[in-house]
Amino acid sequence: MKLIVTRNYEEASTLAANYMAAQILMKPNCVLGLATGSTPLGIYHHLIKMYQDHRITFRSVSSVNLDEYYQLPPDHPQSYHHYMHSEFFNQIDIPADATHLPNALAEDPAQECRRYDRLIDHLGGIDFQLLGIGANGHIAFNEPSDDIPNGTHLVDLTESTIDANKRFFSSASEVPRKAYTMGIGSILRARKILLIATGTNKAQALQETVCGPVTPRVPASLLQLHGDTTILADREAAQLLDERNFHVN
Ligand code: PGA
Repeated sequence: MKLIVTRNYEEASTLAANYMAAQILMKPNCVLGLATGSTPLGIYHHLIKMYQDHRITFRSVSSVNLDEYYQLPPDHPQSYHHYMHSEFFNQIDIPADATHLPNALAEDPAQECRRYDRLIDHLGGIDFQLLGIGANGHIAFNEPSDDIPNGTHLVDLTESTIDANKRFFSSASEVPRKAYTMGIGSILRARKILLIATGTNKAQALQETVCGPVTPRVPASLLQLHGDTTILADREAAQLLDERNFHVN
């Protein structure tokens, strides 16, 4: 794992956008694994600006998103489908049929999970996976567990995740209790991974991710096994790490 510590969220977002832009220049028809939540918003903002300035094009890019709330309709303002279209896809030139998320409304969840895994395989796997991290160490919606899920699956969200995400809904009771998520195996098979962690509330999870044992109790710690993972953290998220072990930007 390579760890880069930035002064603040803005700097982490700029660097992450540069990594993604370089990936697209290197392989214009790459498959991007995309994330939602508050953290990536700054990255999407920078990528949109690069597109508007004609510095990059998404014409040949495909994308697969990490997760989606179970049974939240795509036009619901808090669905990840809605988030991705309004915050990113509608503002760039990625073809509509090249963007993919789990189908929240699929009738048969098991079949939907298989469909999503087959889709990732059919695209040739993920070239570049963007990840956030939960305060409990989750990646995508792979919550702390005794198992290491391989492929896409339906999860019960933990109370801490529901609590963290209730800020997007009018109350905690409106947060869906289940979500589709890509598995840890699918994430680890991505050729490059960029995890971005910002803010004090991610400090404990980041410390355990980087310095702790590799355990599905801290799902992000499994990234220690991946050969090409970069972590971008701001100083607040990196406050429990030993400064001698990383590059401060
Ligand atoms: P956040 O979520 O970016 O909204 O903090 C990250 C995550 O839960 O993976």
